[in-house]
Amino acid sequence: MAQSVKGMRDLFGAELRWFQHIEETARRVFGRHGYGEIRTPILEELDVFKRSVGESSDIVNKEMYQFTDKGGREVVMRPENTAGVVRAAIQHKLLQNNDPVLFYYIGQQFRYERMQTGRYRQFWQIGAESFGVATPESEAESLLMLHSFLTELGLKSLVFSINSVGTPESRPAFHAAFRAFFAQRADRFCEDCHRRIETNPLRVLDCKNERCQAALEGHPVITDHLDEASARHHARLKVLLTELGIPFEENPRLVRGLDYYTRTAFEVLSSDLGAQSALLGGGRYDLLVKHLGGPDVPAFGWAIGLDRLAMVLQQVRGEAPAPAPALLIPLGERAMLEALKLARTLWDAGVALQLETRGGALKKAMTSANRLGIQTVLILGDGELEGGTLTVKHMATGEQESWPVSEAASRLAARRD
Ligand code: HAM
Repeated sequence: MAQSVKGMRDLFGAELRWFQHIEETARRVFGRHGYGEIRTPILEELDVFKRSVGESSDIVNKEMYQFTDKGGREVVMRPENTAGVVRAAIQHKLLQNNDPVLFYYIGQQFRYERMQTGRYRQFWQIGAESFGVATPESEAESLLMLHSFLTELGLKSLVFSINSVGTPESRPAFHAAFRAFFAQRADRFCEDCHRRIETNPLRVLDCKNERCQAALEGHPVITDHLDEASARHHARLKVLLTELGIPFEENPRLVRGLDYYTRTAFEVLSSDLGAQSALLGGGRYDLLVKHLGGPDVPAFGWAIGLDRLAMVLQQVRGEAPAPAPALLIPLGERAMLEALKLARTLWDAGVALQLETRGGALKKAMTSANRLGIQTVLILGDGELEGGTLTVKHMATGEQESWPVSEAASRLAARRD
């Protein structure tokens, strides 16, 4: 029997209902903040990710679904959506007038990763990108939106972990201090870190190896080596978050796994996901638009893993709300046509209703209703047709009653299963 490809799953039932609820909440909250949706293709040219996420990142190095298409193009199934949104915004000249431009997206991403809890090879992200404003206030606006989104979903005890990764101008000072620190204890770091200290020293801070994390004790901190403007920016953001009541903590080892960040970087971790699993992450990327060939436009954004968020919600809130439809069972040929007509009236009135169209015995239909978890069954046979009624069976209690057909819509709308 054919199976889905490893790391890629089918979504249906209770889990998909959480996805849908999350997506609806996102659209409502983001719409309120003036963000508009953008949808970009799943396939992008390889260069888009090499030049943004970065050649030294794990994503570009070893996790991309990359292939040559029939026309000989090197393409990638997007591992994230920020680069694609930037590519699209440049291509369609959406960032020309120095106006703030606000986008959100909901879509699949692909990374060839090792499977763990909440980690898949095809996963979903909901993200928001805000272009054109370099102020800490624009970050506060975006984080407030994120905070409302998570709060409206019912998540309350999340803490934002923040850091500043500085700018290309301020980084050499940090790199020098950090390389000197590393050299003093080089033998305690893993092979990967020895490579990272040459190519991208910030990545050492983020090594998953426990021995390396222990060796980092007392390491030089990026925020002590910031240029003046970046330091002011970072301080102001902390004031804003405090004033707005957004719970945060500073994490000097937070550097993120993608290369495009400048100044603010942040993540939210959830203990429900096991160690080291971030529910979301993001930050400022003021140089990326220009770097990908666009105008000099600053930007800030984040993306949340939808699969992980659905999993946390399931743990915190249980099953997603699922209004089960009622089931209308016609008995006999004449009743079948009348049932179609009645169902149409009910559907048009907004009632959720499934229609049994197989014909045949009541017993078979009732067995299916039980298996499908249907709570309210409406039976329309010859007797009911004569009397203008429906026999209604409440499955949970086994109670049975008779309703006038004319009251079916209002009574179904009022029921609570
Ligand atoms: P990221 O940290 O690579 O950032 O991914 C963001 C979120 O996507 C993660 O926190 C996680 O919830 C989810 N995620 C990542 N990989 C997987 C996976 N294999 N399975 C399930 N969920 C996963 C970015 O992608 C940036 N584009 C975020 C951003 C937007 N920065 C600025 N704007």
